[in-house]
Amino acid sequence: MQNPGTWVPQATADGSFTFFSETFGEAFHSSGGAQSEAFTKFARVTKLAERAVQRGPDSRQPIRLLDVCYGLGYNTAAALETLWAANPGCDIEVVGLELDATVPQAAIAPDLVSIWSPPVQEVLRAIAQKHEFQDSRLSARMLIGDARQTIQQVVAQNFQADAIFFDPFSPRRCPQLWTVEFFSQVAKCLSPTGILATYSRSASVRAAMRAAGLHLGNIPLPAGAARRPHEWSQGTVAAWSPDGLLPLSPMEQEHLRTRAAVPYRDPNLTDSAAAILARHQQEQQQAPLESTSSWRRRWGID
Ligand SMILES: C[S@@+](CC[C@H](N)C(=O)[O-])C[C@H]1O[C@@H](n2cnc3c(N)ncnc32)[C@H](O)[C@@H]1O
Repeated sequence: MQNPGTWVPQATADGSFTFFSETFGEAFHSSGGAQSEAFTKFARVTKLAERAVQRGPDSRQPIRLLDVCYGLGYNTAAALETLWAANPGCDIEVVGLELDATVPQAAIAPDLVSIWSPPVQEVLRAIAQKHEFQDSRLSARMLIGDARQTIQQVVAQNFQADAIFFDPFSPRRCPQLWTVEFFSQVAKCLSPTGILATYSRSASVRAAMRAAGLHLGNIPLPAGAARRPHEWSQGTVAAWSPDGLLPLSPMEQEHLRTRAAVPYRDPNLTDSAAAILARHQQEQQQAPLESTSSWRRRWGID
């Protein structure tokens, strides 16, 4: 864990800040915009505004959110802004999972937290300082530790999320959170009508989600966005039913039949990143699947 004072904010293109992790060698958000990513890749695609409106003004049935890798809390914050803009009285329950408590603490510095509305700022401060928040419309708690263990508490409580924000560092840097076994635990916390969203479009990640029993959908690039050949999507959504999901393109479906689609595995949810990467490499070499380079050539991907 880092001292909160050592997290140095870095500006992203929408003016909001992110951090860089020395441990994982990666920024917490894309340089395109940390705050806007929380809205477009997580709050919007999990249909939060529609869910809040459907609940109506008097419903006491909460909307439940599971924020896997809470970090600076941007995905939770964007979700709260979205839900309360659509239905100010909407009841909400949030569970956040985070390894390093110093990240949310550093993220409530005035310059960083001021991008959110005052009620959401109050929630982020309480979660960072006390790991919980409670008032008449929101119950939120953050579980600190390795999500591979803390998810067991969420499963044991039969928490059924309407939206799961799945936002670990990339599979190469943090493979332990992209395995079939971890997705299987997370999927137990997804309600029959819930949606899981992640920024990853990688075939190994999609294959792991599918092996956990979920149907997959695409998060398309914004209309008119400049696009390089390897950028075919902004991420993936997953649910128990395919209804309402935007199907993967033929190119993406074929990607799932190549060696790139060999998923990461962590049989006891305890292996190191190095052990998971080594197992993955070995399984890829032995897989009787088309090579990903011939798929790339076929679709003109550099
Ligand atoms: C890409 S960042 C998440 C960004 C975050 N969603 C946000 O909006 O700021 C990944 C986060 O995962 C956390 N993390 C890394 N390994 C973890 C683990 N095994 N269990 C839980 N959290 C983990 C890191 O501390 C970091 O905060």
